[in-house]
Amino acid sequence: MQTRQIDRRLSIAPMMDHTDKHFRYFMRLLSKHVVLYTEMITTGALIHGDRKRFLDYEKREHPLAIQLGGNNPNDLAECSLIAEGEGYDEVNLNIGCPSDRVQNGQFGACLMSNTKLVSECVNKIQATVKIPVTVKTRIGIDDQDSYEFLYNFIKSVNDAGCDTFIIHARKAILSGLSPKQNREIPPLNYERVHAIKQSLPSLNISINGGFTELDQIQSQLQHVDGVMVGRAAYQNPFMLVEADNVIFNDDSSSLTRHEILEEFKHYVAKQCALGVNIKNLTRHIIGLYQGQPGARQFRRMLSDAVPENTNPVQFMDNIIQSVTAKKNLSE
Ligand SMILES: Cc1cc2nc3c(=O)[nH]c(=O)nc-3n(C[C@H](O)[C@H](O)[C@H](O)COP(=O)(O)O)c2cc1C
Repeated sequence: MQTRQIDRRLSIAPMMDHTDKHFRYFMRLLSKHVVLYTEMITTGALIHGDRKRFLDYEKREHPLAIQLGGNNPNDLAECSLIAEGEGYDEVNLNIGCPSDRVQNGQFGACLMSNTKLVSECVNKIQATVKIPVTVKTRIGIDDQDSYEFLYNFIKSVNDAGCDTFIIHARKAILSGLSPKQNREIPPLNYERVHAIKQSLPSLNISINGGFTELDQIQSQLQHVDGVMVGRAAYQNPFMLVEADNVIFNDDSSSLTRHEILEEFKHYVAKQCALGVNIKNLTRHIIGLYQGQPGARQFRRMLSDAVPENTNPVQFMDNIIQSVTAKKNLSE
């Protein structure tokens, strides 16, 4: 199987309950180049659950990485092989999630203190698939938060065969904080991630945590190979429209919000015809008009209950008309 070369300068973070295939499709309308990630999928879910639902994606989503959660090298290798067979471009191992459920399963962030097991997992996956294996991690956990701890973790996992890391630049606190608090309370330490890149320059290092503007991303690219953006891509997706031009030097496309809505309308029609609830599609575009005239009405129209038997194209047309009228009024 031919593996695609992945340009990792900008990627969209895996986010449970957010980065499903509909959201990823929407992201791809905004940028041709950003690397997209699935939500974390546990090995148990993929091996025993509704595989088609977890793995389904549209061709145009490439480059697309699957993020796996687990700690059993054989299961991870099996899941990676399945994902490779489905055409995914990368397997990413989650070593950053601090949730209680994930800790109970002994995977995610708590694995940072079990370098040996992470190395075994990476090694086994690496030996099983040809697509790149990457690790998403934190800068530390609890009081294991020194530079040496992070360095030793990255170095060992690199020795096991992984040369691409995405580092969320804050540590995880494994008890007493919710996952949401663990994305806000531990302080960001970008210098720590830059120092890893300096010490291990042959590795491909992406930095993650707190980026909201393209110029921040550009300046990070002076220090590291890539930037991963999570919440900002959800809250203000239109920021990505400039990314192809500014980050990837491709000015061949930049759609307006209106054009993006028109394109998304066709996707909505297609998915609704397949039985998808329109709300599961439109919930992802709620941030499209962030900071623009008509943003509040746009959000409200998308949040209101949708009566049964609503024609999806009509529904989208009403929204497009309403938001465009509001915008024209303010000009
Ligand atoms: C709703 C939500 C769900 C998340 N789910 C995952 C996940 O499944 N796997 C993962 O590695 N990180 C997950 N994260 C963490 C993000 O990938 C990212 O590391 C974090 O949000 C920091 O980046 P940001 O400041 O750009 O949002 C999640 C974050 C959010 C907001």
